Amino acid sequence: MQGVFHADKYPIDAPGTAAHDRLVNSCREALAEDGCCTLSRFLTPAAIARIATEADRLAPQAFRRRTHHNPYFSEPRPELGPSHPVNRVQERTNGFVCADLIDPGSDLWQLYDSPHLTAFLSAAFGIDPLYKYADPLACMPFNTMRPGDAFPWHFDTNEFTVTFMIQPSHSGGIFEYVPGIRDPQDEHYDDVAAVMAGDRSRVRQLELNAGDMQLFLGRYTLHRVTRVDGSLPRHVAIPSWARVPGMVGNPHRTEQIYGRVLPVHLEMGRQRGDSLVD
Ligand SMILES: [Fe+2]
Repeated sequence: MQGVFHADKYPIDAPGTAAHDRLVNSCREALAEDGCCTLSRFLTPAAIARIATEADRLAPQAFRRRTHHNPYFSEPRPELGPSHPVNRVQERTNGFVCADLIDPGSDLWQLYDSPHLTAFLSAAFGIDPLYKYADPLACMPFNTMRPGDAFPWHFDTNEFTVTFMIQPSHSGGIFEYVPGIRDPQDEHYDDVAAVMAGDRSRVRQLELNAGDMQLFLGRYTLHRVTRVDGSLPRHVAIPSWARVPGMVGNPHRTEQIYGRVLPVHLEMGRQRGDSLVD
């Protein structure tokens, strides 16, 4: 991974050192307080340039889809009334470049295949053991948004998310979030409804620059990416990990997001039924 990330500032490859422990602890504190932790300028300028070039090259192959959904990706419930969050259906437009299209020699693969990165994330999120995702399409895709695209308010189904900002848009494309707005015991629908109705009092904005690594607890944090403006597409790499080895996405969800499935998805769909992630 030499030259891919700023090892002096972010010594993820030096477990057991005091500097590594300090970094892990600062990430844990940020996640506990804010649901979000940014390792600013984690990637080197040279790596950013190489990855951005590849993202631009691959972007035309992205599977793009316009969908409509509520913040929970669930079915609306008309009996709850139009202002209830489950009935606030919003438009989403973006695209994904699957991991199997990314050059095997790329900086991103070097990072993803590094046991040090997996161990660091395991420590930062407090999830042990942690495994790389076994899904050949979804383990490390690019999310690519063109001008006019937006990803509206939602909660993630994933417990945690890691992103590498490769190319921010000229304007718009801002990550906005409301940490801890729901918890396992309570959806806090009124609070969610207020945000969706335009209440900005609890909304935080995060300016992500090229090369930033973001750690994020998206299951309890309402979040969105505002509409991308200007002439530049917004590229983000989204690697994934799982609590158990061998995990792949279910065929239906994989087809929805990535526009295709591989034999491994169909095989796992037959073998594992409803224990698959989505
Ligand atoms: Fe999300």
